[in-house]
Amino acid sequence: MRICVIGTGYVGLVTGTVFADLGNNVFCVDVDAAKVAQLSKGIMPIYEPGLEEIVKRNLTEGRIVFSTEVGECVRKSEIIFICVGTPSKNEGETDLSQVESAAKVIGQNINEYKVVVNKSTVPVGTGNLVRRIITENEKTKVEFDVVSNPEFLREGSAISDALNPDRIVIGAPSKNVAMKLIELYATLGAPMYITDVVSAELIKYASNSFLATKISFINAIADICELAGANITDVARGLGADKRIGRDFLNAGLGYGGSCFPKDISSLEHTARKLGYDFGLLRSVMYINDARAHRLVAKIESHFKNLDGLCFAVLGLSFKANTDDLRDAKSLEILEMLTGKGANVRAYDPVTMEKAKVLFPDVIYADNPYEAAEDADAIILVTEWREFLSLDMERLKKVMKSPVIYDGRNIFDMEKLKGLGFEYHGMGRY
Ligand SMILES: NC(=O)c1ccc[n+]([C@@H]2O[C@H](COP(=O)([O-])OP(=O)(O)OC[C@H]3O[C@@H](n4cnc5c(N)ncnc54)[C@H](O)[C@@H]3O)[C@@H](O)[C@H]2O)c1
Repeated sequence: MRICVIGTGYVGLVTGTVFADLGNNVFCVDVDAAKVAQLSKGIMPIYEPGLEEIVKRNLTEGRIVFSTEVGECVRKSEIIFICVGTPSKNEGETDLSQVESAAKVIGQNINEYKVVVNKSTVPVGTGNLVRRIITENEKTKVEFDVVSNPEFLREGSAISDALNPDRIVIGAPSKNVAMKLIELYATLGAPMYITDVVSAELIKYASNSFLATKISFINAIADICELAGANITDVARGLGADKRIGRDFLNAGLGYGGSCFPKDISSLEHTARKLGYDFGLLRSVMYINDARAHRLVAKIESHFKNLDGLCFAVLGLSFKANTDDLRDAKSLEILEMLTGKGANVRAYDPVTMEKAKVLFPDVIYADNPYEAAEDADAIILVTEWREFLSLDMERLKKVMKSPVIYDGRNIFDMEKLKGLGFEYHGMGRY
């Protein structure tokens, strides 16, 4: 099939690349000329395990083309995927301006029947908005259909998620229209859920909101553990052993961040409010999450009293492991608070430091965790990168001023660290 993917970010680039790898001819288009130029040379704008290799293979074999010529690529394609960003505006409302401008270009260039697929995460009713904008901008009357096909890939494992999805959700106006996408996805062998457009749009928000609720729930229980003298690791294990609950998303810590959960949860709360439903549960989820970084910094302050002039080693900056995405990362809040209180920060992240340097030029960026920990009053673990699990803790202790660790993700072996003489502070662990 000839496919145009509008927006070459985390979702568009991965989706387009996987479609190309499945044998389709894909145009990946973006308004960011610098990004397109780099991609055309096989240089990745993001860190995503396995992505570079598969992009290069498809570039060499001529199945993927990167371009800024959105209109031309729309005209040449049968299916057009909208994968542009949908950030938050004030009060949680979704900013649909990127989707609107993509729809406008589609309308101006539509020349024969096409299926337009919204893969961006968009509030219920956006399918109708896209249809209206295309119709308003059509030069000649052409038939088309608008489908919702939300994306569930996770940054850090995006390629394997896109190749082995738990499910594929297709919201289409009719079975016939859905068939086009069923055909496209058939080779993946994943379960497909066919529904109407509005239900598909809502499935995405309901999924992310449910996962965020699990995270905030376990974090609230972690806080209660601290007050009660219980251990969240044991509590979560016992809780997650119930098949109806499951073990996933029960890791207490600094809470969720990233480019999706924060904006999607507030978007659903906003949509509910607009529809006349008071979604207090989601407001509590956000409230608990917003307090996580503050809670950690409050613990540090209650230990050291005055942070002015102290030195902290921050390990991990990306919003989670295996990605370079800093959007709404908990590290940003922590760096802001620590530097605002006069502390010196030395940070280390395996892939995200260049992006962080732009936001926090006064922070010192170390080449490795040991350099970050030199003369530090404490280490603050923010992102659960795997390499931190194999740190030589004795070596770390030797270079630090005082052996204090704040484990914001509960990844370390608490007993082992205590045995080595560290003062260990987890999130809901004693
Ligand atoms: N990042 C994720 O893990 C993830 C997962 C599932 C769903 N989503 C959703 O997918 C959508 C895209 O997310 P992302 O993280 O890939 O965003 P992103 O910001 O990384 O990429 C968006 C891209 O769209 C381009 N763009 C904007 N307007 C354009 C236009 N009119 N024409 C062509 N290109 C345009 C931008 O230049 C950018 O490269 C969002 O709705 C997001 O919520 C993201």
